[in-house]
Amino acid sequence: MVKVNVGGCSSFVKDADYQNYVQKALAAYDVLMAESGPGNDFLGWKTLPVDIPDSLIDECEGIRDAWAAKDVDLVVVIGIGGSYLGARCAIEALSHGFIRKEGVPQIVYAGSNLSEDYLAELMDLAATRNTACVVISKSGTTTEPAVAFRIVKEYIEKTYGKAEAATRIVAITDAARGALKTLATQEGYKTFVVPDNVGGRYSVLTPVGILPIVLAGFDMRAMLRGAAAQREALLVKSEDNPAVQYAAMRNLLYAGLGKKVEVLVTFNPKLQYLGEWWKQLYGESEGKDGKGIFPASVVCTTDLHSMGQYIQEGERLLFETTVTVMNAHREVIVGPDEQNLDQLNYLAGRHVEHCNKMAQLGTKLAHIDGGVPQMDISVERLDEESLGALFYFFEFACGVSAYLLGVNPFNQPGVEAYKKNMFALLSKPGYEAQSEALLARL
Ligand code: PA5
Repeated sequence: MVKVNVGGCSSFVKDADYQNYVQKALAAYDVLMAESGPGNDFLGWKTLPVDIPDSLIDECEGIRDAWAAKDVDLVVVIGIGGSYLGARCAIEALSHGFIRKEGVPQIVYAGSNLSEDYLAELMDLAATRNTACVVISKSGTTTEPAVAFRIVKEYIEKTYGKAEAATRIVAITDAARGALKTLATQEGYKTFVVPDNVGGRYSVLTPVGILPIVLAGFDMRAMLRGAAAQREALLVKSEDNPAVQYAAMRNLLYAGLGKKVEVLVTFNPKLQYLGEWWKQLYGESEGKDGKGIFPASVVCTTDLHSMGQYIQEGERLLFETTVTVMNAHREVIVGPDEQNLDQLNYLAGRHVEHCNKMAQLGTKLAHIDGGVPQMDISVERLDEESLGALFYFFEFACGVSAYLLGVNPFNQPGVEAYKKNMFALLSKPGYEAQSEALLARL
């Protein structure tokens, strides 16, 4: 279960102000629970941990086993934004950092950029491997994944033949609309549906996250169990509700103290993509109507040697939220050395993770002294259940926080602006008229 500690903010805020924001967060909580706020037709994520049928996991495991029987050792997951970040977060958090599990395909990602070199190098890898593909796009019309899919599809068809290709490609998209749906139906691909009432960045517990996570060899049932337990905890309306506490404090720091940037900190490199997933969730949900905390992320201690200077002494517009995994899975102990030339014998017999925790505590105190309020979010260990709990916690808290801020957490109108320009510059049919005016500005 996720724990929240706002104690590292106490020297920055008055308790009365915090209590006032807790009341505001409770009012926002009511709006989320009553499903009466803006965007309330996108609240399907709230019950996903208990709604996902076991048969869906069985189906995903069926694909995993069928591809294993063909010795598939590379799965290209194609998607952008909410259509890949949750899966990548879970897979990177749970995987061995250096060694691939035997019998499990390597998962690589495409469609989240338009870099020609990236795609060319990915195809170099595919050429040496036994490849399958999962293409994910709720709208089924997003340019980046569509371009990547055209290239990967062509490669798979050329390499294995069209009929075999249809067994090596799975599409996850809308039930009825979009180019990807049309294409998948025509080609006879196995498809999974992204529910209408679940937006991309809230979709990790739908097939969008479930299939890639199952293909990577992880226990999706445990992840849903963790999310369901976290949901139960968050259903209790109280001033101690962790989502209420987190939403209250971050909005107080933003509106009351002018802290406009929240840095999500982790001291575990496996959680780098939790930061990426969280930035998308909070950035797209809250950054609108001229408002919103700017979400940033760092991995420590690595980034203490790059961003640490700014956080300690740069412009005082930051607060930090540190996600801590309390227990390491593995043991690495610093040994004694007779010569002690590196002068590390004072650490002999200590766990490396103990050093990491002391670095974390030292950083927290230094940053408080430097004027950076601190919140802590912790889970006991890094496993499927904890990740499910973290996903659900952050989604729920995001809904509460955005309603407190006064914005619709479930739309992203600003994402369209770059697309229109890109389409005009690429002379997409229907956009040609704008292209000359845009070119004149460049
Ligand atoms: O959260 C969102 O809705 C977005 O980030 C989408 O996930 C992203 O734009 C990809 O959209 P689609 O799945 O329609 O290709």
